[in-house]
Amino acid sequence: MNIVLVAGARPNFMKIAPISRELQKEGIGHTLVHTGQHYDERMSKAFFDDLRLPEPDVYLGVGSGTHAEQTGKIMIEFEKVCFQLKPDLLVVVGDVNSTVACALVASKLGIPVAHVEAGLRSFDRSMPEEINRILTDQIADYLFTSCEDARVNLRAEGIPASKIFFVGNVMIDTLKRFIGIAAGSKILDSLKLRSNGTVAKYAVLTLHRPSNVDDGDKLKGIFSALEALAKNVPTIFPAHPRTVQRIKEFSLDDVLTDIQAIPPLGYLDFLNLVSNASVVLTDSGGIQEETTVLGIPCITLRDNTERPVTVREGTNNVVGNDPERILGTALGILENASSGNKIPRYWDGKAAGRIVKILKNKI
Ligand code: UD1
Repeated sequence: MNIVLVAGARPNFMKIAPISRELQKEGIGHTLVHTGQHYDERMSKAFFDDLRLPEPDVYLGVGSGTHAEQTGKIMIEFEKVCFQLKPDLLVVVGDVNSTVACALVASKLGIPVAHVEAGLRSFDRSMPEEINRILTDQIADYLFTSCEDARVNLRAEGIPASKIFFVGNVMIDTLKRFIGIAAGSKILDSLKLRSNGTVAKYAVLTLHRPSNVDDGDKLKGIFSALEALAKNVPTIFPAHPRTVQRIKEFSLDDVLTDIQAIPPLGYLDFLNLVSNASVVLTDSGGIQEETTVLGIPCITLRDNTERPVTVREGTNNVVGNDPERILGTALGILENASSGNKIPRYWDGKAAGRIVKILKNKI
């Protein structure tokens, strides 16, 4: 069996790692294709090292561009790979441009497509990822879901039940595998968040969504709330390259005084940083899930989430980007110890095993 597994951007790497490992365990041949959507050492290579992922077999090197440029380049290059490798199956994960681009190429060539993390919906079509999700799910042959809502969303879009498989969350497979190793990270010491074995109260911030960072006034508003927070607790901000660019463009460097902006972290350092935090503020998708499993309060700086199970059962609070609301929620969390949370069903470290078992029976 010849399976092609695609990854392109940072959040893909922790999702493909357990699938690749499980395929290997089962002796199923597969080729790892990296589109090169993310290419910086800290956005890509660091994750391959931390996650013990083998070097990609094929690197497309497409890099950045407008959505059409990036998606188009990936399609042109990936089609050549499909002609050469003639895969029996393509596995794509998540919702980035690489996901939809490769799924579309394979589907037109008659290659079956499996989509891992299918069926998540924010119901906000201004989000590029929402378009990627809807399109990928429409053309996928096997839709592997991470939560019960996903099936409802897919059925409402006319996807037959026979294509949908509730397998759980592969990102949590990776978290469970590496949380012990991450405990050995020295990041708390290097950020001076630990002294004499005691960890300080601190907040972690990540921000990269176009809806938050591409509008100078909104970005300034968010930073003003977080500057006020940073006067209360150290606020660590591993900054995404897109956000760093926008900060420069909007001349916001001066606004960041107490917030500690640092370069993006690798997987293990970031996991350790988040798992010891008092509160995490983010507009990422995956971090909403990781904080739920870790039991760390999360404040999502968006108007909606495609992961409502993290609000219903987990630690997530979706607050939008109003500065007063962000600050009020964060201070409230810091004052009151958080209440208990549930771990969503099948977020148990065994999702990739379920996926590979199903694929073995089907192909
Ligand atoms: C992409 C995904 C998003 C995901 C995020 C995680 C899409 C539509 N978006 O957004 O869903 O949450 O990755 O990081 O696929 N850049 C670098 N170095 C890199 C990568 C990017 O400098 O290694 C800069 C480039 O200037 C680029 C910008 O960041 O133009 C944005 O990168 P891009 O891949 O277009 O989207 P992300 O914002 O990273």
